[in-house]
Amino acid sequence: MTMQQPLWWQSGIIYQIYPRSFMDSNGDGIGDLRGIRSRLDYLEWLGVDAVWLSPIYPSPMADFGYDVSNYVDIDPQFGSLSDFDALLADVHRRGMKLVLDFVPNHSSDQHPWFQESRRSRDNPKSDWYIWRDPAPDGGPPNNWLSNFGGSGWTYDEARQQYYYHAFLKEQPDLNWRNSEVQDAMLEQMRFWLERGVDGFRVDVIWHLIKDEDFRNNPENPDYRPDAGSHKRLLATYTTDRPEVHDVIRKMRQLLDSYDERMMVGEIYLPVERLVTYYGAGGDGVHLPFNFQLILLPWQAETIRQAVDHYEAALPPHGWPNWVLGNHDNHRLASRFGTEHSRIAAMLLLTLRGTPTLYYGDEIGMIDVTIRPEQVQDPFEKNIPGLGLGRDPERTPMQWDGSANAGFTSGTSWLPVAPDYRTTNVAVQQEDPSSVLTLYRELIQLRRREAALSVGRYRSFCTPPGVLGYMREWGNRRLLVLLNFQPCEQRIDLEMLGGEILLSSHPGRHEREVKEHCLLRPHEGLIIALQETETP
Ligand code: NOJ
Ligand code: CA
Repeated sequence: MTMQQPLWWQSGIIYQIYPRSFMDSNGDGIGDLRGIRSRLDYLEWLGVDAVWLSPIYPSPMADFGYDVSNYVDIDPQFGSLSDFDALLADVHRRGMKLVLDFVPNHSSDQHPWFQESRRSRDNPKSDWYIWRDPAPDGGPPNNWLSNFGGSGWTYDEARQQYYYHAFLKEQPDLNWRNSEVQDAMLEQMRFWLERGVDGFRVDVIWHLIKDEDFRNNPENPDYRPDAGSHKRLLATYTTDRPEVHDVIRKMRQLLDSYDERMMVGEIYLPVERLVTYYGAGGDGVHLPFNFQLILLPWQAETIRQAVDHYEAALPPHGWPNWVLGNHDNHRLASRFGTEHSRIAAMLLLTLRGTPTLYYGDEIGMIDVTIRPEQVQDPFEKNIPGLGLGRDPERTPMQWDGSANAGFTSGTSWLPVAPDYRTTNVAVQQEDPSSVLTLYRELIQLRRREAALSVGRYRSFCTPPGVLGYMREWGNRRLLVLLNFQPCEQRIDLEMLGGEILLSSHPGRHEREVKEHCLLRPHEGLIIALQETETP
């Protein structure tokens, strides 16, 4: 038991809110800060420790808040700074933490900095964004693509130059090689730290620095057109450049000048690259988001290998973390099939490392079909028909069986799921066999059992189709068994008898297990093994 008192972001559970879709307080069909505040009882009841809000800053909403036109205010659609202060105070009063989304890679094209930068080639902010002369033929300076489709370069008449945007043309990339930009962005972070936020989820942090020589990106040898034309090239020279760690270090230093503040970086990279973002001496992000459970095929063996590989790749100071869903990926119940929701919950909440939960997954929300005229997401509009759009996983939270699932008294900005009368918080809170009840029990167990929140992880040998691992703290040994198969599975425990602490499925009455146990189809069990050491 060597771990000192764990920090809140190590032992805690993070809950992601997509503010437009969580709770609307004024009937305009868009979620807001007062709405979130009115639902804090629920989050406290659920038992999560920290809330991460997707962006709430003033924005033209070209990418629904990921295009920020002012980093130090609140968009009127979401409320005001005083609404924010009230929310923060309420969150803190309940012993929870609040994490903001920080979007440093790009601003909105409506941000005053970009408005100034685009005016001329010699204004004071002319070098704050990434400007280049046209290629000799007048076309874009190189082959860099936008992640939302088409070229990453847009021509600007006033400067007669192109600017680079990794996402929409309304989201110009800031030039993080410019120290004035660095200082200005750190000031924006400081504003919120001074106000008392507990940390940041940093948007596309591995994108911040681009190749100094603007080399062309290489062709992607695995490119398949049905993945979208934005995948045609590898992002070799536009992401994960070595110098990015220098700017992350500066952010970390700022956070470290306050108490227990935390940053989690959004990074989609293979594990070997991902773990470099902890920083050489622990001076990187506290948590580089680990998206393997989203990206990998849902198979017991694949996940076992991924967990073991990740555990082995972590640097000594690196605290692990796991994510099952977010606002950019299809709902887990739709990716894996609803029959897998329960073992997915058990997996997320029993692995070693900070879990991040996406709003609505705890009631088993599924992707909602979006008719063409309902599409909001610019990604879907730019590259239609390939299933890339993110609206299906951003639909309103289903609170109860009243109109619009209790989300709004108006017309919601995205459709409410058709099954909301049966799949909602109010119904599931009363139902001991609901997915929500399972999430709450898992969260309570994780809080009670140090083995689950901070204990060691050890792989456990199981038949194919079953994932097994131990979590250990002192003499306490918890065995987690997850049956990925639609059939019964017999697990040999040899001499390891124990007590079932939790099953993912209702109806298991016996608590004691002896030399073997039977897992029902898609069932997960957490078993406290008998202590073997003599007293
Ligand atoms: C990642 C965010 O999660 C996504 O929603 C957004 O569109 C892009 N970054 C651009 O900011
Ligand atoms: Ca509203």
